[in-house]
Amino acid sequence: MAAKIIDGKAISAKMKEEMKREIAELRGIGIFPGLAVVLVGENPASVVYVRNKGKACHELGVHSEEHRLLANSSEEDLLRLIERLNKDDKINGILVQLPLPRHIDERKILEAISPDKDVDGFHPYNIGKLMIGEPAFAPCTPYGVIKMLEHSNIDITGKNAVIVGRSNIVGKPMAMLLLQKNATVTICHSKTNDLPAVCRGADILIAAIGKPRFVTADMVKDGAVVIDVGINRLPDGKLVGDVDYDAVAQKAGYITPVPGGVGPMTITMLLYNTIQSARRAAGKVKAVEV
Ligand code: GUN
Repeated sequence: MAAKIIDGKAISAKMKEEMKREIAELRGIGIFPGLAVVLVGENPASVVYVRNKGKACHELGVHSEEHRLLANSSEEDLLRLIERLNKDDKINGILVQLPLPRHIDERKILEAISPDKDVDGFHPYNIGKLMIGEPAFAPCTPYGVIKMLEHSNIDITGKNAVIVGRSNIVGKPMAMLLLQKNATVTICHSKTNDLPAVCRGADILIAAIGKPRFVTADMVKDGAVVIDVGINRLPDGKLVGDVDYDAVAQKAGYITPVPGGVGPMTITMLLYNTIQSARRAAGKVKAVEV
């Protein structure tokens, strides 16, 4: 039987409608969420991401600022800008677009962002909070995956969740979020023994490896929920995920397409985190619940 498609665009649109209502309510009590996006250099993919983030803010009525620094700006220039944004009351979320030029220490920059404005969820403080199950900003992509499962009424409790990929941005926080939702979690990577067998044990399989069509139908249990976080450009220009979609869709119970699956959720969750941050700054909520 063909899998049900989890439509990230539709879920994202639904969440944005709810968020618009929330923003209108916040405006009524004098709270105006604001996001600052910092781009160093002109990496073409980053330029597009940053532009899309600005557009999404505009669409929802979130104040947005784009701060561009030249590629040869020093680490100190960037740290000074972050310090200024940390102190700026109009700004509730700060996102420094990655990757940074090689002469800038990424960890040092991410640690300079106030944990209270770290809507990317990349600061070690927020990563630590996530690890111990305390309210924190969760990284946008894995948080978006949780929202997709919830909106599709997929029960996570007690399920075997297998994540292929151990990155700090997706794999590891994905594991923590699924664990918090009571899944039994396995993280696989390039050194995992008999990866296909481990994947076949998954009720929920998350592909986040960055290799086109890496997850094939023989690695998927009948009826499994397959979430594809990958976005890969093939030499012919086609965009594909980490899952061999056509074959896996014949076997899975649920599947996310690429494009139109996890991708649209990431920016939505960034705005979601920014709104929660504004609410917290105004004392409307004590902390950000995941
Ligand atoms: N570059 C690619 N994805 C991301 C992201 O989610 N956050 C930031 N800051 N940079 C990125």
